[in-house]
Amino acid sequence: MADQPSSSEPKKERFTPKTPVTLAPPKDDPIELDHLAKCDGTNEGFPTLVAIKGTVFDVTGNASYAPGKNYNVFCGKDASRALALSSLKPEDCVPNWEDLDDTAKKTLDDWFTFFSKRYNVVGRVAAGKEGQEEPEAEVPESKGPVDIEKQCGVLLTNGSQCPHSSTCKSHSWGAKRAVQGRSAPFDVLLQQHQEE
Ligand code: HEM
Repeated sequence: MADQPSSSEPKKERFTPKTPVTLAPPKDDPIELDHLAKCDGTNEGFPTLVAIKGTVFDVTGNASYAPGKNYNVFCGKDASRALALSSLKPEDCVPNWEDLDDTAKKTLDDWFTFFSKRYNVVGRVAAGKEGQEEPEAEVPESKGPVDIEKQCGVLLTNGSQCPHSSTCKSHSWGAKRAVQGRSAPFDVLLQQHQEE
């Protein structure tokens, strides 16, 4: 993209909008995923929202995010991974970014700054849902090889992988997404598994 974050600009000025923007105080209200999904620009009366790393920005009014426009793919969801990867693929518009390399993580943080300087923060993705951490808990010992395509797979203190299903409540979404070696992002596999 023409205005993609780049490290060559002076730090203080980076991502500052050309036309000054007055932002409202950020809100910390939990926003449930089903509500967020309605806020994709297609529902009259609902704002158009984009979440990055669990923080929800209101992009209502920017034509780039309108239905049928390129960046509408990011709307109504946490699209962190796609922003980190500079991808417009719908399958990349998922929250999990923890397994990405440092360059992608930096790109994502730059997008966060870009959005922070332009759009009001209207809440955060509700706890226990995408983009949020959950408390760790005890898990049983693994009894056999773990299928990381369908199972939690988070590394346990005993060196084995958590044998719970992908919906395991003992490990955070972040930890599950960070498991290396899956054939596709955790959220994609989870969705496929649930559709089976
Ligand atoms: C041929 C490729 C692309 C072109 C020509 C392009 C062009 C542009 C332009 C002209 C803008 C407006 C800049 C401004 O407001 O100052 C923009 C913004 C943006 N682009 Fe791209 N882009 C491309 C690819 C991508 C890709 C692959 C992504 C995926 C992350 C992306 C994400 C965005 C986002 C999030 C914005 C910010 C929109 C806003 O909130 O104002 N672009 N792009």
